[in-house]
Amino acid sequence: MEIDIQLVPSPPNSNILLNRAVVVIDVLRATSVMIHALSQGVLEIIPVSTVEEAFQMAKILQRDTILLGGERESKKIQGFDLGNSPREYIAERVRGKKLILTTTNGTKAFHLVSSGKEILVGSFFNIGAIAQRCLKLKRDILIFPSGDEGKFSLEDTICGGMLIELITKRGGKAIVLTDASHCAQILYRKFKDNLLKAFRLSSHGKELIDRGFGEDLAYCAQIDITSLVPHFREGGIKISD
Ligand code: MLT
Repeated sequence: MEIDIQLVPSPPNSNILLNRAVVVIDVLRATSVMIHALSQGVLEIIPVSTVEEAFQMAKILQRDTILLGGERESKKIQGFDLGNSPREYIAERVRGKKLILTTTNGTKAFHLVSSGKEILVGSFFNIGAIAQRCLKLKRDILIFPSGDEGKFSLEDTICGGMLIELITKRGGKAIVLTDASHCAQILYRKFKDNLLKAFRLSSHGKELIDRGFGEDLAYCAQIDITSLVPHFREGGIKISD
């Protein structure tokens, strides 16, 4: 079983994806929001690329059954119900709803890898459960950090590195790593005792602090707060069995 990680979020060759499981990661903050929202009772998340698409979809669906969430420049979008801080997605607010979500990088990433055999949603929140699921799938894996507007992202790569560490520890010699995977694993080992330090060094972490969302960094650094493994299938993200 080979594990590769796409260090820069360019569209992968769809032939490579056909037989692979893909794990999409956007620690700050899209996949953290998705996992958190589902853990608080959201029924399904529709990740869309643009604000226009989100409003279009809201028109088609019954308005009282959905929530519009997401960000541009980290801030809540005008006319939306919720922003992109996982702390906003609490059961009292979101339970029983369908969430239409649009973010700068994270929601777009799902559409770049949509030809993957199995597409999973990961962050530090569910990293142990994702590792377990990857081992169970017994197929090659591509970890896909959503990055920062097309660029490398430190926090997503470290999260990918932790996933690689967990899978190799449990899977032993059967696991083959690419050079990119070794690189992510080394980065994870460097920062594993202080994830927050890495988040504060990262360009998106700095932006979030400057924009008033500094508390989200510590929140998103929490490890294994849920065992949910969401997957993306036919345009929607739901909890998988
Ligand atoms: C993204 O998808 O780019 C992020 O989640 C952005 C953010 O939350 O600020």
